[in-house]
This record gives sequence, structure tokens and C-alpha cells, in this order.
Amino acid sequence: MWSMNTNKYLGGLVVVAWLLLVADFVGDQLIPPVEPIVSEVAAGLPSVAESSASKAAEPVVPLGILLASASIDKGKKVAKKCVACHSFKQGGKNKVGPNLYDIMGSKRGVVAGYSYSGAIKAMGGVWGFDDMDQFLKKPKKFMPGTKMSFSGLKKPKDRAAIIFYLRSFSNTPVDLPKN
Ligand code: HEC
Repeated sequence: MWSMNTNKYLGGLVVVAWLLLVADFVGDQLIPPVEPIVSEVAAGLPSVAESSASKAAEPVVPLGILLASASIDKGKKVAKKCVACHSFKQGGKNKVGPNLYDIMGSKRGVVAGYSYSGAIKAMGGVWGFDDMDQFLKKPKKFMPGTKMSFSGLKKPKDRAAIIFYLRSFSNTPVDLPKN
């Protein structure tokens, strides 16, 4: 019992082990060594880290450039965050926030029939591209005391898209900023 079968098994194991060694050796010859690949990846890492660091540092791409590549479609998507409180259409109702038809290039806080905060009235002025960008980034920071309860749009691209979209709701859209 022991001798025959066990010998067969042991013999089999030796053959398998030997085959594995051979396969390993042949494999090593066929497949390029792993180290250079690893070092290539490692060499690539700093640039990846750099690009994500520069993203975190924000205004990498000027608003004008982002606007030039913005699309109505993307704007419409971002606008989903606004439509609970705003309508964009001409003659649209004031909701929690005022109607935003023709808002780009218009005076702040003057939509008829809407009861604004003192903050926006005190600020006055006209909505331009850069200040709209700052406002939408963090409304309460740009305009302390505003009653727009919206945390803001963190991504510069999202802000460019919604500004581009807002601008389209006008009979005479204001010119895009020149770079
Ligand atoms: C929770 C409701 C709410 C959301 C969401 C919201 N807003 Fe507002 N928004 C307001 C209110 C309220 C005001 C009035 C601010 C004031 O009187 O201080 C306002 C004011 C504004 C104004 C100034 C209008 C004017 O007449 O000068 C702009 C521009 C604006 N919002 C754009 C946006 C955009 C774009 C979004 C989406 C990215 C958005 N808001 C999301 C409630 C909201």
C-alpha cells in the first residue's frame, strides 16, 4: 500500500515540481523582467500627482477658455441643481429664487415681483462673467447674507457650463469674454 502508491504520488509530485521550475525559467526568458515596468509606472507617478495637485489649486484654466468650450447640453445638466428654485424662461415664475431670464449682463436683484435679501440689494452692480463665477462657486462667500441657500458648484467647468447656459436665455446674449 505504502510503497507502490506513495511512490507514484511522490514521483508525480517531483515531476510537477520540476515542470513548474522549467515553466518558471522559460517564462522568465519569454516575459520581460518586471522591474522596468514598475519603474516606468513609478516614473509616471509624479506627473499624475502634479496634475491632480494643480486641479486642487483651481483656476488652472481661465473662465474665458472654459466658456469657449462649454456646451448648452452640459449647462442643462448642471442646471438641474438650480431648477428647484429658479426658472430660466422668459416670463417664468419667481420660485424660491427669482426668474433668471436674461440675467447675464443684467443688474443684480431687480427682477420684478421678487423679494430679495438686503445683501444683494446692497451689493448692486451688474452680473458679469467673473463675478457670476465667484457667486456660483460659493454664494454665501461672494455675497454674505444672501438668501440663496445653495452650497455652490466646486468644479470650474460646471460653473462655466451653467453660465454659458444662463447666457443663452436672452434675446440678445452678452458677448463671451475675450481671451
Ligand atoms: C435652494 C434654492 C436655490 C437654489 C438651489 C439656487 N438658487 Fe439662486 N437664488 C436663490 C435665492 C433665494 C436667490 C435670491 C438671493 C437674495 O435675495 O439674496 C437667488 C439668487 C440667484 C441669482 C441672482 C439673481 C438676481 O436677480 O440678481 C442668481 C444669478 C442665481 N440665484 C443663480 C443660481 C444658479 C445658477 C443656481 C444653480 C447652480 C442657483 N441659483 C441655485 C435660491 C436658489
